[in-house]
Amino acid sequence: MIKLTDASQNLNKYGCYIVREVADFRKVNFKKIQKDTQNLIDKLIVYTPSRSFNLSDLSTEPGIDMEKFQKTFQLGEQKISNSLFKGGEKNWSNLVPQVTIKEPLYNLPSISDLVFNPMWLDIASDYLGGPAKITFAKVKKTYGNNININSTDQKYHVDDNADEKLLKFIIYLNDVEKGNGGFHYVKNSKFNSLKENRHYFEDSEIELAFPEEDILEFIGKAGSAIFVDTLGIHKAGLISNSDRYALLINFGLKREYNGERKDQLIKKDIYDSLNTRVKPMCEFMEIKV
Ligand SMILES: [Fe+2]
Repeated sequence: MIKLTDASQNLNKYGCYIVREVADFRKVNFKKIQKDTQNLIDKLIVYTPSRSFNLSDLSTEPGIDMEKFQKTFQLGEQKISNSLFKGGEKNWSNLVPQVTIKEPLYNLPSISDLVFNPMWLDIASDYLGGPAKITFAKVKKTYGNNININSTDQKYHVDDNADEKLLKFIIYLNDVEKGNGGFHYVKNSKFNSLKENRHYFEDSEIELAFPEEDILEFIGKAGSAIFVDTLGIHKAGLISNSDRYALLINFGLKREYNGERKDQLIKKDIYDSLNTRVKPMCEFMEIKV
């Protein structure tokens, strides 16, 4: 049973809260979500994936690194070629770390029960100090390609945000075992001095600066879920064996990036089916038939 006070206390104290025993999740067909996700990948209803990045190129020096990266990605230098993309997943699954579904709340209705749970609204609103909205939703498949492919997520970092809190909710859509792609979060790191003017960190620095029990590797069955404030230090785990599917939801009180990014879509059928209590979570989305 989830207690709202536990969630707030944990988020405020450690920067994370692991959600356990969600009764509603027993009704969720995770196999179907995976199948639907794969169908969308096969139909190329995904963003063109980006090639891996050499993690050693990621400077852990103060200041410049995040900016340099954002520029690289904005220029699209890392995207795979159009012809490679059009050839389908088999052509790129050994070249890229992951692929992301386009407009998941429009194209993937099977996730709606997972996303629109009044409990998430309560937890997020309580932590953020106001009526929380979904500011971004993402469904991604991370490839277990075992060829040392890395993404920028896989180095310890803090997310870039001007706000004081950045709340994300991660739900695994398949089982994630130890050492195979689990999300890593460093408890009590949000206000640590190591973070000053820096975005990326070496594993060795983290191991030195924090006690072992604060370095959390989040693993679990499909439906395992965690709320995290990603202004604390975190990284995605490296995957070796099997592909990993995950749903990520960002919560906020304002639109991300000062509202410069286009609102995500939600399918009208999904929106109409929501109860009035959770509907306001969609304020920053565009309803489309
Ligand atoms: Fe991150």
